[in-house]
Amino acid sequence: HCFTKSEQDGYLYCEGLKVQDVMESVERRPFYLYSKPQITRNVEAYVEALEGLNSIIGYAIKANNNFKILEHLRQLGCGAVLVSGNELRLALRAGFDPTKCIFNGNGKLLEDLVLAAQEGVFVNVDSEFDLDNIVSAARISGKKVNVLLRINPDVDPQVHPYVATGNKSSKFGIRNEKLQWFLDAVKSHPNELKLVGAHCHLGSTITKVDIFRDAAVLMVNYIDQIRAQGFEIDYLNIGGGLGIDYYHAGAILPTPRDLIDTVRELVLSRKLNLIIEPGRSLIANTCCLVNRVTGVKTNGAKNFVVIDGSMAELIRPSLYDAYQHIELVSPAQPDAEVSTFDVVGPVCESADFLGKERELPTPARGAGLVVHDAGAYCMSMASTYNLKMRPPEYWIDEDGTVSKIRHGETFADHMRYFEGL
Ligand code: LLP
Repeated sequence: HCFTKSEQDGYLYCEGLKVQDVMESVERRPFYLYSKPQITRNVEAYVEALEGLNSIIGYAIKANNNFKILEHLRQLGCGAVLVSGNELRLALRAGFDPTKCIFNGNGKLLEDLVLAAQEGVFVNVDSEFDLDNIVSAARISGKKVNVLLRINPDVDPQVHPYVATGNKSSKFGIRNEKLQWFLDAVKSHPNELKLVGAHCHLGSTITKVDIFRDAAVLMVNYIDQIRAQGFEIDYLNIGGGLGIDYYHAGAILPTPRDLIDTVRELVLSRKLNLIIEPGRSLIANTCCLVNRVTGVKTNGAKNFVVIDGSMAELIRPSLYDAYQHIELVSPAQPDAEVSTFDVVGPVCESADFLGKERELPTPARGAGLVVHDAGAYCMSMASTYNLKMRPPEYWIDEDGTVSKIRHGETFADHMRYFEGL
């Protein structure tokens, strides 16, 4: 964890800086604060784990699409995993090498597939109609498309149902019993499609690497079957999904090395190139949402800490009942009573909470309070509900300077949508 409480003075620090000082120096709260060196360390963990394998780290842009962060990840050698035409445009703007990009999704639009074909990115085939659209995109662009078949391996990832994607009831991928239909369809379009690999993605927040191994065994079997029909396919894409330590309770979770080591021998035995699609495990732990306490109140049996951040800036607790660790940025006042609080925002919904039943020293008004591990699926899922405009983002650089990496959205930005109407 790059945000840690000092045992000496009780303040929260990141890369040697007091979060309290950063909070007081920026123009508005809440705001997202990242550690750029932690992003680098997370990528390095994957790069080191992948040593000895031909591989692509396809960063899943949906987790966090901050442009400055994307440029940094690209400079570190990452490719990108995209799920919309705009994510593809953004990746190209950020300079990602198209041959390290993978276009995924169950509802890819024809016009976006045309762009993908023109740019030469890998495209995952998700269904019969998707294949049809990819063939059309190849014809329109005059380019042959490198495709992977997204196979639904039907493995239970043991996670929240909203983030499970590789089991029978999921809307993603092709059913394995339909594999032959897809192989025949690819064969009948030799000018439009080149089959280069197979893909699966099991789900997100996975904390047992055996699940990846079970899926890889199945996938390598499919690859053997596909190769037996004369296809020269070289890529196994095992998706993303590695979980992180949201609880901060000392649990030991699998690392990128643990993940890669469970599939290494299989990949080498078939001389495959490995594609992985991490999002959360590259970016979640590099960031906190920094909020200020507006006040403390008690209603009947419940105590509440009301902060300026909310489900608009960070929806994971409301949407998935997700736990994200919460901490005050400064030491408790000597006379502060420790109580159990729900940490809530100002949005007009009872679903607007950042944490439930958290034990905290009663904070003073104006105290800083962070929600940890906010780098993935937080800003990228933020909304302007209740006209809470999207917050600014900052990072702490290698040399300990704080710079803004995205402006906060303003009321004026909002009114611009109505100009001239
Ligand atoms: N590849 C594919 C095809 C995916 O669908 C996803 C995530 C990833 C890679 C990256 O997975 P990761 O390594 O980040 O787990 N909003 C939810 C997570 C949704 C994940 C969707 N797919 C959350 O906040 O937990």
